[in-house]
Amino acid sequence: SKKIIIAIDGMSSCGKSTIAKQLAQQLNYIYVDSGAMYRAITLYFLRNNIDIANTTQVKDALQEIELDFRFNEQSEQVEIFLNDENVEYLIREMIVAEKVSEVAALADVRAYAVSQQQKMGGKKGVIMDGRDIGTVVFPHAELKLFMVADNAIRVERRFKELYQKNPNITIEEVAHNIEMRDYIDANREISPLRKAKDAIEIDNTNLTPDEQLQKVLNLANSVL
Ligand code: C5P
Repeated sequence: SKKIIIAIDGMSSCGKSTIAKQLAQQLNYIYVDSGAMYRAITLYFLRNNIDIANTTQVKDALQEIELDFRFNEQSEQVEIFLNDENVEYLIREMIVAEKVSEVAALADVRAYAVSQQQKMGGKKGVIMDGRDIGTVVFPHAELKLFMVADNAIRVERRFKELYQKNPNITIEEVAHNIEMRDYIDANREISPLRKAKDAIEIDNTNLTPDEQLQKVLNLANSVL
């Protein structure tokens, strides 16, 4: 069967990466977590005190950043490297989550990330999740999904995930971060979060991971 591009968008913590990883495994496709790129750029900016209001500083910083995804045999996951350092776990921390949407709203940052994402899609057989994949990065993707889930469920899922690594985290903190990122992501000037006209909406509020996977596999098989 032919190789296609699958674009998965939606608000924060809607289960995009869960379904993307499962699909990639089932179809033997490459999974690309575009949000990890914005998070890694944000980590670099934080470490180097980049003033995001200063375009020259931002442009210069981007020139110093090299991102790549590498497969880890042990975890059997793709992990992101920032200048050869594995930052897959560091970028999930709250300090990054608190700044990432402001960084991702910058024109230079988006141009940098999108051009790399488009190159990764060149060979097809790619599943990418994010906010603007079906609208901007791959407007011609053969399959576009737009994930939604109730707010309370999203907060609960993300809280459980973060709590495992940091038992000091509070549910209020998680709820606030999700709300803030969704607001900035949906209201920014460049590539705001939107459902593409031809995207299929999937509400997984009441779906088990298995039910969701079956539903999405059926959709994928209908275009493969
Ligand atoms: O997907 P994740 O929640 O890790 O993404 C982190 C942030 O990166 C989002 O809140 C958003 O600000 C930004 N992002 C983006 N465009 C994408 C993916 C992520 O602006 N395609």
